[in-house]
This record gives sequence, C-alpha cells and structure tokens, in this order.
Amino acid sequence: MSKLNKQYQYDVLIIGSGAAGLNLALLLALQARVALVSKAPLTESATLYAQGGISAVLGEHDSIDSHVEDTLTAGCGLCDEKVVRLAVERGAHSIQWLIDHGIAFTQSSAENGKPGYHLTREGGHSHRRIIHAADATGREVETTLAGQARQHPNIDVFENHTAIDLITGQKLGLRNHRCLGAYILDEAKNRVAVFRAKFIVLATGGAGKVYLYTSNPDVSTGDGIAMAWRAGCRIANMEFIQFHPTCLYHPETKSFLITEAIRGEGGKLRLPDGTTFMQRFHPQAELAPRDIVARAIDHEMKRLGAECVYLDISHASTNFITEHFPTIYERCLKLGYDMTQQAIPVVPAAHYVCGGIKTDALGRSDIEGLYAIGETAFTGMHGANRMASNSLLECLVFAEAASRDILAQLDKTDIAEPLPEWDESRVSDSDEEVVVTHNWHELRRFMWNYVGIVRTDKRLQRAKRRIELLLQEIDEYYSHFRITKNLIELRNLSVVADLIIRSAILRTESRGLHYTLDAPQIDNSRPPKNTVLIPKNFVGKSK
Ligand code: FAD
Ligand code: SIN
Repeated sequence: MSKLNKQYQYDVLIIGSGAAGLNLALLLALQARVALVSKAPLTESATLYAQGGISAVLGEHDSIDSHVEDTLTAGCGLCDEKVVRLAVERGAHSIQWLIDHGIAFTQSSAENGKPGYHLTREGGHSHRRIIHAADATGREVETTLAGQARQHPNIDVFENHTAIDLITGQKLGLRNHRCLGAYILDEAKNRVAVFRAKFIVLATGGAGKVYLYTSNPDVSTGDGIAMAWRAGCRIANMEFIQFHPTCLYHPETKSFLITEAIRGEGGKLRLPDGTTFMQRFHPQAELAPRDIVARAIDHEMKRLGAECVYLDISHASTNFITEHFPTIYERCLKLGYDMTQQAIPVVPAAHYVCGGIKTDALGRSDIEGLYAIGETAFTGMHGANRMASNSLLECLVFAEAASRDILAQLDKTDIAEPLPEWDESRVSDSDEEVVVTHNWHELRRFMWNYVGIVRTDKRLQRAKRRIELLLQEIDEYYSHFRITKNLIELRNLSVVADLIIRSAILRTESRGLHYTLDAPQIDNSRPPKNTVLIPKNFVGKSK
C-alpha cells in the first residue's frame, strides 16, 4: 500500500468481503496488490449465514445437462442459458478450489453408502447436488477464506469502511468514463478517504434490508446496486425478489433461516392443525421451487389468519438431525423448540435479489474498470427465480472469471492521477437523526406490505408515490448533513426500493418471483424479456 495525499492506491479495490469478494481477493493477490474493504467486521456478510450449501455436479448419477435444465426451469424462461451452462460447468472446479483452500465439507457417513462428500437436496434440484458443511456452510467458507485473506501479504483489509460512491471519469467531467476509485467512510476516524485503483470490484451482496422481514444480515442494504446506478450502470430484473419460505418465527430471533435442506431431507410443512398442505399447490410438494412454497405459505397464513406455519422433521432420528442440522437444532432448543420431538414455527422472509448490476460473463459492468460479482450482480444466471444453493456457486464462478480478466489487463492499465477529495464544505452535523430512523422504518414496512410476495397494480402505485416522496426527502437530507453510515445505507435502500418498484410496475405478468393478482399468469404471447432500467447518465457499454 502507498499513501499519497491521504489517497490510497492499489491495483484492485474490492468492495465487499463475502464469498465473492474473498474468493476474488485471494485469486488476484497472486499477482496484484488488493484493498479489501468491508463496511463491518471482515466476516459479517450474507455468506457467513449461508446454511444449505453450494450446488455443483458431483454425484455419480448427476449431469451438467440436468443441473442446467433444473436452473432454467426454476428461472421461468429468463435465464441466460450460456451463462447457466458456464457456471454449472465450472462448479466442480470451484468446489475443488475451496477444498484446496481448506474448506471442510461434510463427508458421507457409512450409512449413506460410498465414502466421499455428503450431497443434500433442495427445492427444484432433481438430484442430490448440494455440497455442504453441516448446516453452516457459509460460516466454514467465510471464516476460512477471511483468515487467509488477513494473512496474505498482497491484501490489505479495511474493516468498518463503508463505500459511499464510485469516482468515475464522467463524474469528474473527463472524456474517459472509466471508474477510477471510490469515496470510503472510515468509521473509526470519521473521515472520508479516497481509494484509487486500476480496477474496482463491487462485491457488496444483496438488499434484503429493504424489506421489514428478511433472512439477510444488516449489511445487506444494496449499496453496490445503488452506487452503480448513480455512476451510470444499467440495473436489471429488480422485480425478482426471492422470499425464503422458512425463517424461524419467534419474537427473540431476528433473521434466523431454517434451511431448505430440512425439506430436502423429508421435512414437512404443516398448518397449525397439523395437516400438510404443499401437495395441494405443486406435485413436488415441499420441494417445489421456492416462489411456489413461499406463496403457498403466504396464502395459507392469510386464509387462516395464522401467524406462521410449522416445519416438521421430528420423524427423522435424533442422530440424523443433530449431525446434519446442529446449528439449527441448538438455536431452536435455546428458544424452547426441540425439533427432534416437535415441529418448529416458520414464516417467509425476503432472502435474495435475483436482479442487480448488469454484467457480462466476466463480471464487467457498463463502466470500464468497474466489475460486479456475487449477489449484487445480474449475470443472467437466475432468471425470474434463483434455484437454491446456486448463489454461492455464482459467487465463486464469476469471481474466478473476473480475476482472469483483470489479471490479463493489469500490466497495461494505469492508476488514475490523484482524485478530488470528498467535499464537506457545505454540510453540517445533523440536528435530527430521527429523520433517518423514521424513513428507514417507513420504507421497509411499505415495501413489505405493497411490494412483497403478492403484488397488485394498486399496491405498486401506492409504493411508487411513497418512494418518490422519500427519495426527495432523503436527497435533501443527504445534501445538507454530514455523512453517517446509517444515512449512506438509507440513501442506498431508497434507490434500491425505487428500482424494485419501477421494475415491478414494468412487468405486466406473473413470472417466477414476481406475482401480481392483476395478471396472475405468465404472458406467453411474446418472448420473455428482462427488465433493464437505464440511468440518465448511461453512456453505453464502454467495452
Ligand atoms: P455477501 O456475502 O453478502 O457479502 C457482502 C459484503 O459486502 C459484506 O462484506 C458487506 O459488509 C460488504 N458491503 C456491503 N456494502 C458495502 C459498502 N457500502 N462498503 C463496504 N462494504 C460493503 N446461497 C447459497 O448458494 N447457498 C446457501 O446455502 C445459502 N444460504 C443462505 C442463508 C442465508 C441466511 C442467507 C441470507 C443467504 C443464503 N444464501 C445461500 C444466499 C447467499 O448466501 C448469498 O447470495 C451470498 O452469500 C452472497 O455473497 P456475496 O459475496 O455476493 O455477498
Ligand atoms: C437454504 O439453506 O435454505 C438457503 C439456500 C439458498 O438460499 O440457496
């Protein structure tokens, strides 16, 4: 690292340290000097909480074609088949990379037959193809890779540093529109630093916090999507928000997911009176694609006025449950539910954004020098509905693809000259922080109520009117008061909410995760189309 007028300069600036950012950092660090920036402690990310595992074709009877086919089916006509095939074909290689980096996946026990890794099953997959580390796959991946990134001489880690905005040639009035760096708030020092780099990568994850109820951690505020949009990148398919069918329903838990692998291993969903219901909604019952399961639960809860439904795996042996689901078992037990003996209460919650920053198959965005990988990106892999455990796969495969592309250009690319410092000359300290907390709550509540699992034209129009007011108010607040992490996140959430609402209004059919009572069927009268939003400052794809 070298510092010039308080400006950091690196070969590559990676914003985000989940599976995508860490994987990329370790790959690049073989040849490049990397800044790895995270707005929280290094390991805090959606990745840390991933449970079920990573999908890849590893089973004897499985095939690339089958994984591709299942992904396309879940995606309801909107997956980019080339991208899906590429990801699926690279899957086994990415898993081997993780194993080589010390990830301890669960082995098959003798009772399951042959030695090797245990593969579990999840919704939409026609084979067992989810490799996992018990029910805490993300923790194993995140903590192992983060440990290696911290030790690496070519990686400088910046924790509790929140990226505010990208710096582009366009913003500086230059003819070259390249991305040159970013403004980043250092929370400890309470100052905004300039980071300059040859390449900038957004690996900022999802945006579940835009909804009142979510499986996502607090860091998932869609910052990368909002920064890229402001910088002039196209954003696609934001109407496709995945709601995970089963988050634990308990007043003392926030965001605790109950993995789909429980249903994969025979778990049944039950109504409060103990009857099963999924068979009424889909031939695959509990293993139907997630959108169908989440909608069925939502429907039954509304029909019965129930606060939750129940997930029951108590028929399995205690040994099996405690061996395969130790984290969930312990957490439930602490809250008074012994899942070896009883069903546990569950509700759906916002889980995953299928849309994001439009990229090509190498992770390149619309702006030269700017890449996006992981959940923040829209590669075309998930279409209108992501299949379970395909997200971590996408993080790994596209981190690797981006690393190859970046390394190939490293020597022929220069770092920008010193960039303008962050200008705080016209702002003061906020006199009313309550504006931020109030707007934050209001936004998440109306997104849940009006832009949730089941939508209508009327609800979307209501949401549109509210977000327009909020955007105006937040913009005004942003331009008058000194920046804080909460304000950065609220500003980004409001942009993401606006993009979701606009995309949902544009889709006048029900497809995959977007379901509206005003047009409850897929529109087969024309070819399926992605919803691509174009910002005012879009200047065309630069590469
Ligand atoms: P994340 O892991 O979310 O990391 C984002 C990083 O960006 C964090 O380090 C964050 O601090 C940082 N960041 C964000 N904004 C800024 C900013 N402004 N400045 C600086 N840093 C910033 N998928 C699967 O495939 N299999 C599973 O089993 C699975 N289980 C899941 C369980 C849960 C509870 C959840 C929430 C998701 C699960 N998913 C699963 C989805 C999957 O975990 C995520 O899609 C994936 O981990 C995203 O990885 P990522 O690297 O893109 O982002
Ligand atoms: C889960 O374990 O149910 C989550 C898997 C995923 O989101 O891919």
